[in-house]
Amino acid sequence: MSLPNHGANPQHVYNSLGITPPCRIIDFSENVNPLGPPDSIQSAWNNFQKFMKVYPDPVGEPFRTKIAQYHNISPDSIFVSNGASEVFSLLAEKYMGKQAILIHPTFSEYGATLKARHVEIVNLKMPNIVTGELPIADMKEHMHHADVLYLCTPNNPTGTLPKRSVIRELIQYAKISNCDIVLDEAFIDFISEEASFISDIDSAHVIIVRSMTKMYAMPGLRLGYMAAAPHIVEEIQRLAPHWNVNRLAAEVGSLVLNDETFRKKAIQHSLKTCKDMTAFLKAQGCEVTQSQANFLLFKLPQLNKGFFPYFLRKGIVLRHTENFRELDGQWFRIGMKSEAQMEILKRELTAWFEAH
Ligand SMILES: Cc1ncc(COP(=O)(O)O)c(C=O)c1O
Repeated sequence: MSLPNHGANPQHVYNSLGITPPCRIIDFSENVNPLGPPDSIQSAWNNFQKFMKVYPDPVGEPFRTKIAQYHNISPDSIFVSNGASEVFSLLAEKYMGKQAILIHPTFSEYGATLKARHVEIVNLKMPNIVTGELPIADMKEHMHHADVLYLCTPNNPTGTLPKRSVIRELIQYAKISNCDIVLDEAFIDFISEEASFISDIDSAHVIIVRSMTKMYAMPGLRLGYMAAAPHIVEEIQRLAPHWNVNRLAAEVGSLVLNDETFRKKAIQHSLKTCKDMTAFLKAQGCEVTQSQANFLLFKLPQLNKGFFPYFLRKGIVLRHTENFRELDGQWFRIGMKSEAQMEILKRELTAWFEAH
């Protein structure tokens, strides 16, 4: 059986490799904020039960209005979704039979959803995985023929974020070449709203995708959104199932957006743990990406097929990279967890490096 294509759900990794899971498992393969979910959800939970009995709002209210206020944009520019994943499925339908550009390594769902809708994919490669440099000249050349360019900002799995001036240049080029640009900002909350390009949606070529999963630690609830020009929002809304977002998710989403203190703490934690882990891995001779997100990607100094299963047996689940194009399986991604969990990881890594 092959390894699962996504992080999280660690039991599938153990099953696929035939390894018995130990009693204690720490899942570093997913990138959900370890400080969440915010306490406000717990306090309001009983109040939310009444929403089970009513049909949800068809456009995801009250979340849509709340998110519009949060970004200071019109509600007509927002499509509320069942996680960012739903947006990618619907975008693939929008571009059915057309051509899309992907820059690898990147989130595998872009390719998976586009292929399912027979979108022709132009696969380009980052010239430098550590810095996350983009192949700008190649991208521009292909943008003349393609209908859409997908960019993950910051990028999963490298955590790298192109310079603002580079993204701005690509947005301008999108106009010239009549090629849409989809910016997946699922992890931008861990940097700052100032890094977002949501204020650029006036341009009919810019589509922003956001997720509530990572920062607010609510992967089970399923909530995300797309911000774009109103005519694109209408088009995507028509493709979506009716009542695509459950009311509980819409209520919880509206509540947690108020929690500025929670976000600030999460950013500080992510910055600190990522910096510490980067320094630790570099001291062991690993290559480490210049991540700005709440995860990083590293490569062992020497190939070792036993590394990943060794850590699984220790109850430490890293994100393998077998299904990422342009990574050779010797890169591993680590999602930042609590300080205590990061210490356990460092201890086990130290033991490994001493023995190899
Ligand atoms: C880069 C990226 N975009 C989007 C998603 C999907 O997020 P959601 O849980 O909101 O569907 C993920 C999930 O791992 C992701 O890594």
